[in-house]
Amino acid sequence: MDYTFLAEKAIEAKKTALPTYSHFHVGAALLTEDGKIYSGGNIESSSYGLTICAERTAIFKAISEGERKFSAIAIAGDTVGYCSPCGACRQIISDLCKDIDIVLVNQKKEIKVLRTKDLLPFAFEDTDLQTKTSE
Ligand code: THU
Repeated sequence: MDYTFLAEKAIEAKKTALPTYSHFHVGAALLTEDGKIYSGGNIESSSYGLTICAERTAIFKAISEGERKFSAIAIAGDTVGYCSPCGACRQIISDLCKDIDIVLVNQKKEIKVLRTKDLLPFAFEDTDLQTKTSE
């Protein structure tokens, strides 16, 4: 799969980020199974812990528009190496997007493709909630 186009969308989305405190711009572009793209940047709060990462901005935008099936998410940072999703975003990708391609894009526009399960092996999943034994 050629992810050049999706990578460009993630790079473009960096411009929409609002990293008021860290000044660290991240962009994400989420591809639906039927070919639509939802993008977003990280948005920071003066109460730092309320910050939302670029990945979650893109995912929540798509979910709130009624999308449910996804095939890939591209993530671009202004980093020499690849900007890999944080632990919280890995859980959200696993829960809401399932096992999709995660397309990391570095400053040189080089691309590295991984799967959700590579980044979050042995994940806690919604099926675990259903296997609770009664007290
Ligand atoms: N950040 C993202 O948006 N995505 C990532 O994959 C890593 C970190 C944001 C959160 C915060 O606004 C800034 O980068 C610095 O941590």
